[in-house]
Amino acid sequence: MRIEIPREFERLGAVRIYGLQKVYELDSGPEEAPTSARDDAVVRSLPAEAIYEVQREMAIVVPVRSERLKLIEGVLVGIPNPCLVIVVSNSPREPIDRHFLELESITNFCRFTRKQVLIVHQKDPVIAAAFAAGGFTDVLGKDSLVRDGKAEGMMMGTVLARILGRRYVGFVDSDNYFPGAVNEYVREYAAGFLIHGGDHTVVRISWHSKPKIVEQALYFAKWGRSSRRCNRALNQLLSHFTGFETEIVKTGNSGEHAMTVELAMSMRYATGFAVEPYHYIDLLEQYGGVIPTEHGDMRRLVRICQIESRNPHLHADKGDAHVADMIVGSLATIYHSRLCPVWLQQEIDAELRQGGYLKEGDTLKPIRLYPSLAGLNLEQFGAAAQSVVDRRVGASPASTGVVA
Ligand code: GDP
Ligand code: CO
Repeated sequence: MRIEIPREFERLGAVRIYGLQKVYELDSGPEEAPTSARDDAVVRSLPAEAIYEVQREMAIVVPVRSERLKLIEGVLVGIPNPCLVIVVSNSPREPIDRHFLELESITNFCRFTRKQVLIVHQKDPVIAAAFAAGGFTDVLGKDSLVRDGKAEGMMMGTVLARILGRRYVGFVDSDNYFPGAVNEYVREYAAGFLIHGGDHTVVRISWHSKPKIVEQALYFAKWGRSSRRCNRALNQLLSHFTGFETEIVKTGNSGEHAMTVELAMSMRYATGFAVEPYHYIDLLEQYGGVIPTEHGDMRRLVRICQIESRNPHLHADKGDAHVADMIVGSLATIYHSRLCPVWLQQEIDAELRQGGYLKEGDTLKPIRLYPSLAGLNLEQFGAAAQSVVDRRVGASPASTGVVA
C-alpha cells in the first residue's frame, strides 16, 4: 500500500492526533530497494508482506445483529485470511433461530476458505459466566447475561482477541455491502500500525465517500449528518485546550477502527452509539494531562492515526431515527466529559434543541459507561470460557493454545 505520511498532528498531553492520511495505491507491490526510501518522501510504500505480518497478529471483530446473511458473508469475503475473525452476534434465537442460520452459513464458508473464525453469541451463558468468574459483572444485565448493544459485543470480542493471543484488534461492521471496502479497511489498519508503531496506536478510518441517490442520480457525499457534528464538537474541545482552532479530527464516529489489544483492554467503553466518539474522550481524559488520570499511564504516547479509505462506504440504511440517536449519543459523551467547558456544553445544548433532538424541558442524559477491562481477571475468564474458545473453525492445531 502506498500511503501519505501524516504532515501534522495535534497534541494534548500524551495523546497525539495525526492528520488524515490519503492512500495513493491500495497495492504498491513488493518491498522496494532501500535506496528508494528518501528522507523528504511524503508518501511511503508498505510492502504486502509487511502488511500480512501485522495481519497475522490481528483479530477482526465483526458485530452482528440481525443482518442479512449475504451481507455478513460479503464482509467475511473481504477480511484477509491471516486475520483471526471473531463474529459476535446478538441476533435473536426466537421465534426463528437466526443465530443458528448464521452459524451454519459462516461455518460452511470458513471451511472452504480455511479462515480462522470464532463465532459467539452475545447471550451465550458460558460467556456471561466467564465475565462473572473474572469479576467483571458490569456488562451483565438483570438476566445475568451480557447486555444488548454493539459496545458490549465489542468488549466481548476484545477479551476473546486477548485470550487468543492477538496483538491487535480491529472492528468491521457486518452490514457493509462492499467486500472490497472491508478488505481495504483491514489493510489500512495494518498500514497504520506499520507507520505509527504497534504500542499504543489507534487507527481510525474516514470514508472517502458514501454514495446516495439524490434526484435519481448517484451522489457521493463526504460527511454524514452525525459525523459532521461529532467531529466539530471534538475539534472544539481540542481547540479549547490547545488555544488553536483545529479541524484535525475527521473520525469521531468512525465504526471502522483498530487498536492494540493492550490499549483496548485499558480503555473505558460507552454504551449505544457513543462507543466510537467516546474513545477520543476517554483517551483525552486519561492521557491528555488536563485532569488527573484514573487508569491511564502518562508515560505512554498514544497515537491516533486517521486514514482516508478509497472505496465508497455503503451499509444498510437504518433510517432517520437511527441518525438522530447517533447525533444525540455522540454529542452527549462530549457534553458530559469532565473536559467539556461550559461554553461548549451550551453550544451543544443549543444545537440539539435547534435541530429538534432535544425537546422543551429535556436535558441531555449522560451515557452509561463501562470501566476498563483491566479489572477483568483473564485467567478466570479464560478458564470459564474455554469451551467457547475451543469452538473456533479453521484454526491450525499449532495455534490453539489459549494465552491468558
Ligand atoms: P451504524 O452503522 O453505526 O449506523 O450502526 P449499525 O446499526 O449498522 O450497527 C453497527 C454494527 O453493529 C452492525 O454490524 C450491527 O449488526 C452491529 N450491532 C448492532 N447492535 C448490536 C448488538 O447489540 N450486538 C452486536 N454484537 N452487534 C450489534
Ligand atoms: Co451500519
